[in-house]
Amino acid sequence: MKKKIALLPGDGIGKEVMEGAVDLLKSIAEHYHHEFDFEYGLIGGGAIDQTGDPLPDETLEICKASDAVLLGAVGGPKWDENPAELRPEKGLLKLRKELDLYANLRPVQAYESIADQSPLKAEILEGVDLLIVRELTGGLYFGKPSERSHHNGEESAVDTLFYNRNEIERIIETAFKLARERRKKVTSVDKANVLESSRMWREVAEEVASKYPDVELQHMLVDNAAMQLIRSPKQFDVIVTENMFGDILSDEASMLTGSLGMLPSASLSESSLHLYEPVHGSAPDIAGLNKANPVAMMLSVAMMLRHSFSLEEEANAIELAVKHVFESGKRTADLADKNHESLTTKAMVEEVKEAMADDHAIF
Ligand code: NAD
Ligand code: IPM
Ligand code: MN
Repeated sequence: MKKKIALLPGDGIGKEVMEGAVDLLKSIAEHYHHEFDFEYGLIGGGAIDQTGDPLPDETLEICKASDAVLLGAVGGPKWDENPAELRPEKGLLKLRKELDLYANLRPVQAYESIADQSPLKAEILEGVDLLIVRELTGGLYFGKPSERSHHNGEESAVDTLFYNRNEIERIIETAFKLARERRKKVTSVDKANVLESSRMWREVAEEVASKYPDVELQHMLVDNAAMQLIRSPKQFDVIVTENMFGDILSDEASMLTGSLGMLPSASLSESSLHLYEPVHGSAPDIAGLNKANPVAMMLSVAMMLRHSFSLEEEANAIELAVKHVFESGKRTADLADKNHESLTTKAMVEEVKEAMADDHAIF
């Protein structure tokens, strides 16, 4: 199979985990006889420094001319005081909007072999396997107005949570379709006791649910959902929610695995062009130290191979290899403790490649 992949490493550890992803993809290409053509693009802080734009047109063109997009992370303290339009995050938000990547899938699976690093008890984590479906191109992140103003000497700021019915409908449909392939339960998370947009969300969820009688729909208020994720995460199969709620709940859910460095994601559009990125950010506190956990990125590669290229066997091979590496006690610093030495980012990637070789006798 021949595919073109746009690579947008971004900033901080985004660059380091992207190196690991490329390394992994090259091995897969070689051993499964595929041809992956890589084209690099600038995004985020690095793009601002080099071009004055967090998402240069050239990057967008590279993405549009590719079969899939792989992204590291953007942002860092260097650009934190920049005006809104010149922030690294703006580049990522614009890319999501331009490519209409409305459905962000964030799977959360607790591996028994690293459960000791979660602050939760092992019996609460056992068997946790949930999927957060985060609406990604609307809601509080994209509402207008979003601005500051001065009136009579008083400064104020406003952000707006806006959705039209169609935006809600398509994300809920996506959640139901995915739930059908899983344990057939959708928890729609909202704040319908306060927000009008949530009351419409709930209405639409009910309408969509009537087309999927085989799938159970549950509504849950977001504050309760945040608590239930910790109290009893096994109750969840598919969670579908507004952009910002999904952002917050997914970082929280990452601790069911033990580290934010574990969660991959796929951002899907209605077209065939999708983007894959870890849930974590550029981690300025550990950037440049070769200690970031590359697993979120490697699992994002697996999601890309499965969703964009239908390479199920290759995707499974990565996921199985990651599992085996953890079972052998190997971990990066975020998951290590006195009983486990910590591997560098590069060493962890090597371990996963070796585990694939052992599992499949192919490398
Ligand atoms: P962060 O996700 O970068 O880091 C939070 C904490 O988790 C840090 O202590 C970090 O060291 C740790 N961590 C994250 N990923 C890790 C990994 N793979 N391995 C080991 N440890 C890891 O969040 P933050 O510190 O709040 O944000 C830093 C910057 O990243 C900000 O500029 C923010 O806007 C940006 N950000 C970008 C993305 C993205 O590009 N998708 C996502 C989140 C945050
Ligand atoms: C994420 C990040 C982004 C978001 C930021 C960097 C804009 O936190 O992908 O989760 O909030 O969506
Ligand atoms: Mn986030």
